Amino acid sequence: MSEIESVAIVGAGFMGTGIAEVAAVAGLSVILRDVDAAVIARAAERIDTSLARAIRGGKLDDAHARAARERIELTTQLETIGDADLVIEAVPEHEALKLEVMTAIDGVARDDAVVASNTSSIPIAELAQAISDPTRMLGLHFFSPVPVMRLIEIVVALDTSEETLASARAFAEQIGKVPIETKDRSGFIVNMLLIPYLMAAVRMYEDGFASREDIDTGMKLGCGHPMGPLTLCDFIGLDVMYAIGAALYEEFKRDEYAPPPLLKRMVASGRLGRKSGRGFYDYN
Ligand code: 3HC
Repeated sequence: MSEIESVAIVGAGFMGTGIAEVAAVAGLSVILRDVDAAVIARAAERIDTSLARAIRGGKLDDAHARAARERIELTTQLETIGDADLVIEAVPEHEALKLEVMTAIDGVARDDAVVASNTSSIPIAELAQAISDPTRMLGLHFFSPVPVMRLIEIVVALDTSEETLASARAFAEQIGKVPIETKDRSGFIVNMLLIPYLMAAVRMYEDGFASREDIDTGMKLGCGHPMGPLTLCDFIGLDVMYAIGAALYEEFKRDEYAPPPLLKRMVASGRLGRKSGRGFYDYN
């Protein structure tokens, strides 16, 4: 596989949309596909808003942003991904769904296309079962908000070939990100460190040890974090936090990863954080 010139992203949620934007800004031709037309419409709005923000922040000029937008084709048709050099799966964090999507991708992607998952916690080796040639598969874990966060974790699975890895490294640099490499185990590098910290903050709040504002202010002003931990949980999404914590706990059986009861109940009652309008804080 030579240089990546075209990328298809399957799943047009917050992450998929961000990946599409950065790839298009870097000059690649992009297909952003979702099964749901309403999700595609929201993705288009989100890209426009984000590009406008990049212009306001002096990161892009009008012409560059317009050209980037024109390079993104939004679609509900899976067949359109068939020409892409790289296909990135970015659907919600459920293993059965991801496996189903991987199988569908394998059915239409080119034989020499690199296939990546943006999973934050599901073993790449399991998702690679759905790919006819698992040497072409790896993890590309982006961070939210994708246009702003510079990191990509490249997850090297047992079967990932050197050639696939080289393409992924080159792609990360092409889109202006800094790649780090990690083995295929739950949490990779960043979430393995971040999730115990966030779970500890939820437990601290659940125990009534301190107010949510003081927990957040403590880490913002005491440690220079851009967001306090409970605000960050709301930003990531409490359902996503729960899924990652549960996957880490399942893998390592260590208490620090286990989602606290409060998190489970907040998810059950639809308090998913910023995206649902309510989490540890109210966004309505
Ligand atoms: N393209 C390029 N740059 C953009 C942009 C775009 N579309 N939109 C905004 N920017 C730039 C802005 O110009 C600004 O640049 P500057 O610092 O040079 O002025 C910068 O991004 C910040 O933008 P804003 O000023 O609009 O926003 P804030 O200053 O309020 O910061 C934030 C918002 C970036 C979300 C910040 O609060 C933050 O960094 N929070 C922590 C986020 C974090 O930890 N993310 C990781 C989550 S974990 C994860 O994703 C893994 C998963 O598996 C759970």
